[in-house]
Amino acid sequence: MTILVAGAGQMGAGIAQVCATFGHDVLLNDIDDARIARGIAGIANVLDRDVEKGRKTAPDRAAILGRIAPVSSLDGPLDVDLAIEAATERLDLKLKIFRTLDRIVPPGAILASNTSSISITEIGAVTGRPERVIGMHFMNPVPVMKLVEIIRGIATSNETFATVRDLALGLEKTPVEARDFPGFVANRILMPMINEAIYALYEGVASVEGIDTVMKLGMNHPMGPLTLADFIGLDTCLAIMEVLHAGLGDSKYRPCPLLRQYVAAGWYGKKSGRGFYDYRTPANGATAVAAASA
Ligand code: CAA
Repeated sequence: MTILVAGAGQMGAGIAQVCATFGHDVLLNDIDDARIARGIAGIANVLDRDVEKGRKTAPDRAAILGRIAPVSSLDGPLDVDLAIEAATERLDLKLKIFRTLDRIVPPGAILASNTSSISITEIGAVTGRPERVIGMHFMNPVPVMKLVEIIRGIATSNETFATVRDLALGLEKTPVEARDFPGFVANRILMPMINEAIYALYEGVASVEGIDTVMKLGMNHPMGPLTLADFIGLDTCLAIMEVLHAGLGDSKYRPCPLLRQYVAAGWYGKKSGRGFYDYRTPANGATAVAAASA
């Protein structure tokens, strides 16, 4: 397949890498060339580590990178079989991208969104091909995590679903079908847990490290919830909680005020250098930052 990946951040770059690894030609786009270049450099770094660890050969690395081509703008027609959108988790932005994709890719192409919570039905409705619009929700880090949630909008056809499921299987992922309700399955369950961990911090129940240690050692989670929130991005966590809160209308999904405060401060987690942990001290790795309200 030829696959356009719209968005070269941590998710888009990971999706591009995995698609290229399994032989697909990938066009990688973002809002400017610097972001695309950063995305490709990140993929090259991950592949370097794979070569060092003997998981891939240098020619494999070169072939994978050779299958990823940057695309600077979404102005002209693009001859692709599938477009996967992996932009920031904002409804207005996603709708704008889908209107554009609908215009520039062939009428038979499938349009997929990596959205973590936004309605696929609503996204499909702004295109002229809602039967070929679907959710393809990868997990971070995409090259490592085995799951892909596949979400049908109300109009998504069986044929579109089967094509995307087969693609996911071909990428050696395990697809799970979810219905189009806010947060699908993954974030319906994960995000309230993270939000609750932030409430525990906000209410002074325990420290950042204390909360993470409880969930790591007590529940065998690979990362504590506050580390995971930093890793996902606190802006993304807040956006998902807002979708759950608005879409399900239950106060149990209200975002913690401390999460709002961190996002207002620009403390987005790992990607901005600071979240619940401080990533600006490279010598020692992450160092806990005292939360303002704890
Ligand atoms: N890209 C590619 N590969 C990566 C990677 C990355 N960003 N980060 C780690 N890896 C790979 C590496 O191959 C690494 O092996 P090497 O060290 O031999 O190179 C291997 O993973 C293990 O990494 P580490 O030893 O550094 O650390 P770890 O054992 O703690 O594993 C982890 C890292 C896989 C990320 C693990 O901590 C984990 O599973 N964390 C939870 C991740 C999670 O919950 N993801 C879902 C987030 S929610 C989401 O994505 C959806 C959403 O909508 C919000």
